[in-house]
Amino acid sequence: MAFNAKKFVEDTIEEIRNTAGNKTALCATSGGVDSMVCAFLAYRAIGKNLTAVFIDDGLMRENEPKRVTSVLRSRGVRTVLISAANDFFRALKGKEDPEDMRKAFRHAFYKTLGKAVRKHRAKYLIQGTIAADVAETKGKIKSQHNVLEQIGISPSRYGLNVIEPLVKLYKPDVRKVGKALGLPKSIYQRMPFPGPGLATRVVGEVTPDRVRMLRKATTIVERELKNVKAFQTFAVLLSDRATGIRKGKRAFGNIIVIRSVQSKNALTASPTHIPYQILERIQKKITRRIPEVTKVLYDISPKPPSTIEYI
Ligand code: XMP
Repeated sequence: MAFNAKKFVEDTIEEIRNTAGNKTALCATSGGVDSMVCAFLAYRAIGKNLTAVFIDDGLMRENEPKRVTSVLRSRGVRTVLISAANDFFRALKGKEDPEDMRKAFRHAFYKTLGKAVRKHRAKYLIQGTIAADVAETKGKIKSQHNVLEQIGISPSRYGLNVIEPLVKLYKPDVRKVGKALGLPKSIYQRMPFPGPGLATRVVGEVTPDRVRMLRKATTIVERELKNVKAFQTFAVLLSDRATGIRKGKRAFGNIIVIRSVQSKNALTASPTHIPYQILERIQKKITRRIPEVTKVLYDISPKPPSTIEYI
């Protein structure tokens, strides 16, 4: 049966209202489609009893904290921004194994949220986990940052009661819910952005310097590819390096990968056919503006056998 987004919105608003009632709830929002749709759904259900929490973990794209909090606030959602970059970098320090990085991120994330829940005396945490997050985590492909209970971690360990209104939906239906909620296209048609942010695109240790480099490359790639239709488009920083030339001298530089994929539900994906001239322009801009980078590659791998992100 076709998914009825309007009915889903009505039923879910009622469910959230029945559960959270007149209690205070927090909603963790990263700025990605799922968490934004979830926040607005929760806002429709409990209004002023909802506080959206945006954690600035130091792993966001340029201007992301300001952009996300102002979108929420301009639509009436009470929003707090928590600056916690140091906590996240400390948690990620020395970690190079992808699953270790994911676990460290998840732990720092829920510790920060747990603190916020206590501070705001919230009874519930509402979060935008979707079916694909659970499927990949349970399938042991990668442990997505927002999956706890389904893998045997009790949210109460962090002092949380979790509500997950979107947990049965895949991305296309989440977008339909966003549309049914009357949100602008810029929110519900937005490219997905993973909860652990740029950390999913840093291979090797996540340090402030390496994230800064990747953030610059991300801005260039997103800008240059904004008119190319894709499910996701981003830059990746590899841990390998390659010999290059800077000012006539040998430079053992960093490698940036451009990644752009087509996908429906993120469970499978294929690389976007980007015109060669655009790739060349991106290469020039990246190597000119980020002197530490000497090589730019384009990733032509589908999922499977690749995944979309790099860790
Ligand atoms: P992969 O890399 O597994 O990604 O092919 C599938 C989709 O999920 C996003 N992704 C995440 N989203 N928390 C999230 O909220 C995570 O830990 C996470 N890891 C990957 C990814 O951007 C893609 O859309």
